[in-house]
Amino acid sequence: MMAKPMVMLLLKDGTQDLHNEIEKHMPVFRPDFNSQQYAEVLQKMHRFYEGFEKKLETALSTHGLSDMYKDRFKTPRIESDLKSLGTPTKSQPAPSHLPVLDSVPAIAGALYVIEGSSLGGQIITKHLKEKLNMTPEQTQFFGGYGELTGKRWQEFQKWMGELDMNEQNAKLAVSSARETFSSLMECLK
Ligand code: HEM
Repeated sequence: MMAKPMVMLLLKDGTQDLHNEIEKHMPVFRPDFNSQQYAEVLQKMHRFYEGFEKKLETALSTHGLSDMYKDRFKTPRIESDLKSLGTPTKSQPAPSHLPVLDSVPAIAGALYVIEGSSLGGQIITKHLKEKLNMTPEQTQFFGGYGELTGKRWQEFQKWMGELDMNEQNAKLAVSSARETFSSLMECLK
């Protein structure tokens, strides 16, 4: 296995506190968690992802990076899960702040958060299937890349390792990752 790029370690260290905090706003492992609450979590995720991925799509295209995320969009997966649950996707106000994706390091920091969350997503999906009898059609968002999750995370790390990450850019990436966590957290509250 390849060595982790330095910036990945800085990102992990620089956002650990927010990861711990965001877990507190995810009710999935609570004993009374039910399918209605699951649909509510998906609606909250939708609020964030719809706004975020619209911005992201533009930012990636501006920087000639559209290819790397082309089959990674999460908004359609959330909408499909909600449909499979028999719940229409609600129209919601855009989050009051989203990460500013005005440079490649800023994009990379935000994507670290999004792609990293697919790791925890695997544990969540297992739980949703076991505890709430959810089907694969109802867990496409958390289920993410399924058994390819590890491979896709490795690919992402490789992409990160190829970016020009001097100290200043790494700082920009960490700051953007922190904004991304905060913005999602606002939607999950
Ligand atoms: C109940 C909720 C969550 C649980 C239980 C959870 C659990 C985990 C676990 C176990 C890992 C490590 C996997 C590994 O190293 O193989 C991980 C990594 C990660 N998670 Fe979460 N997670 C949760 C929510 C989130 C959310 C909402 C986000 C952000 C959108 C997030 C972002 C990340 C990131 C960025 C990593 C990668 C850390 C690294 O650099 O190695 N997680 N999570």
